[in-house]
Parts: sequence; C-alpha cells; structure tokens
Amino acid sequence: MTQSPTPIHDVVREHYAERIKNSASCCGPSDCCTPENNLYPTDLLATLDGEAPVSYGCGDPITLASLEPGQTVLDLGSGAGLDCFFAAKKVGESGKVIGVDMTPEMIERARSGAKRMNLTNVEFRQGFIEDLPVESGTVDVIVSNCVINLSPDKSKVFNETFRVLKPGGKLAVSDIVTDGELPDEVKKSLSAWAGCVAGAVEAKDYTAMMEAAGFTDISIKPVFFDKQTVDDALGEMELDTSSYSKEDVYKAVYSAKITAYRPA
Ligand SMILES: C[S@@+](CC[C@H](N)C(=O)[O-])C[C@H]1O[C@@H](n2cnc3c(N)ncnc32)[C@H](O)[C@@H]1O
Repeated sequence: MTQSPTPIHDVVREHYAERIKNSASCCGPSDCCTPENNLYPTDLLATLDGEAPVSYGCGDPITLASLEPGQTVLDLGSGAGLDCFFAAKKVGESGKVIGVDMTPEMIERARSGAKRMNLTNVEFRQGFIEDLPVESGTVDVIVSNCVINLSPDKSKVFNETFRVLKPGGKLAVSDIVTDGELPDEVKKSLSAWAGCVAGAVEAKDYTAMMEAAGFTDISIKPVFFDKQTVDDALGEMELDTSSYSKEDVYKAVYSAKITAYRPA
C-alpha cells in the first residue's frame, strides 16, 4: 500500500512547513499550545537538558503512555520532535523511538534537536501516517499529539497503527475531537483543517474507526476546551463570519486523552 498526497496533505504540509520555518508554535499563528502553557509537567520538561521545547500539540501523550525502559515507541506526526525526545529519555538506551512525519522541514528540525541532545535511540522517518514506514508487529506503544485530526483518511491511520503495534501494544493519543457536528462552512475550509479544527470528528466516530481496525479497551476523555486553537483556525478562514456561528464551533470542539489497545 502506498499513500499519495491528497490536496489536504498538501495544505497541511505547507502550513506546518511555514510554521516551523517561522518557528511559530501551535496549530494557528499564536503560541497557544506551547509547553509552557502547562501541556507538560515540569519534571518532564526538565528532561530536555536545556533544549528549547517546540510544541504544536494539544496535550501530553507521554504521561498518558506510561512508558517503560526498553520499549519501542512510535510517534505519529512527530513535528519538531518534542514527544520523541521525552520518550527517548523514558525508554532509555535499551529502548527505541521512531518519529514519522510527512513534512521535510519538521524532520530536519527534529533530527537537529536529537543531535544537540545526543540522543542515539531516536530516529525520524519521513512518511505518511496512513502508510507507515514501519515493520508490522514491532512497536510497544504508539503516541501522537494533535495529528490524527489532520488526516483525510483516519480509518487508514487506525489500520496502520494496529498493524505496526505488537499484540498487547498500546495507543496513547492527544487529539482534537468533537461532540456534535461542526458547521458545514467550517468543515469545508482547508485552512481550518490545517488548524486542527475542520478535520476533527465526533468522539463516537473516532471510537467506531478504532473498533473497526481491531482496537479494544478504547477510552476518550475530554481534557480541555481549546478556544485559542478554534479562534486561530477560524481567524485564518477567509469566510464571512455571518455564514456560521463561532459559538457552535466552541461548543463542539475539545482536546481529549485517547487510549486503546491491540488485543494480546
Ligand atoms: C499539529 S502538528 C503536531 C506536531 C507534534 N506532534 C507536536 O505535538 O508538536 C501536526 C504534525 O503532523 C504532521 N502530519 C499531519 N498530517 C500528517 C500525515 N497524514 N502524515 C504524516 N504527518 C502528518 C505535520 O507535518 C505536523 O508536523
């Protein structure tokens, strides 16, 4: 199976290439999702050995993952590498971390960070999360931070994550999901998609796709309502604000902690 980039992939890739070139953090133009905004506990941030954290995430999948020394970890949409750096410290020299991202500028930034931190147990591979460049049944834990909502084919992502996990393996994800439908005008906007809003699906549909891929013990827990992400994404849309209600978007969108397992 090979994934060809869709127009959504192209828009998302250009958006994040631009973000990292400008070193702007988060999904939108502001710094709403910086780790300093309490995404991560201070003891985890302290493991970075002085490397400046660059986050485009919406949660802390590392704490959710409860990583152990020696494990093999895969990060879907690893961005500038932050969660991979945390994971590399947690799994230690006997473990291994693989970050996959489709944006070359992100891969480059992540590799240079790993080099500065002298991390020898982490590697970054350019590729699509719908077609993972990873061998089947080789990964103990998959983490991901604010990425699956960006995929135009989430069922493919869950099928691929299931394939590469070892039996008994865990999926630990921070992502944006919705409770109820987004207004059509927002769903149709590619810039709101790149901003982590338009591609978000209802939690029940997210669960159904994970179940269809074979995952069990699925849990989706709301963490916070991410008003800034919503405002940033809507701010980038060139739409007449009278064509949709911002309140309807606020009501629907939230950041969640998501866990699921490949049965043993
Ligand atoms: C919101 S950023 C999150 C980055 C990182 N996880 C973090 O927390 O900082 C989304 C990242 O996912 C990558 N991405 C989005 N869709 C992807 C896809 N279908 N395949 C591979 N990477 C993707 C983008 O290139 C970008 O680096």
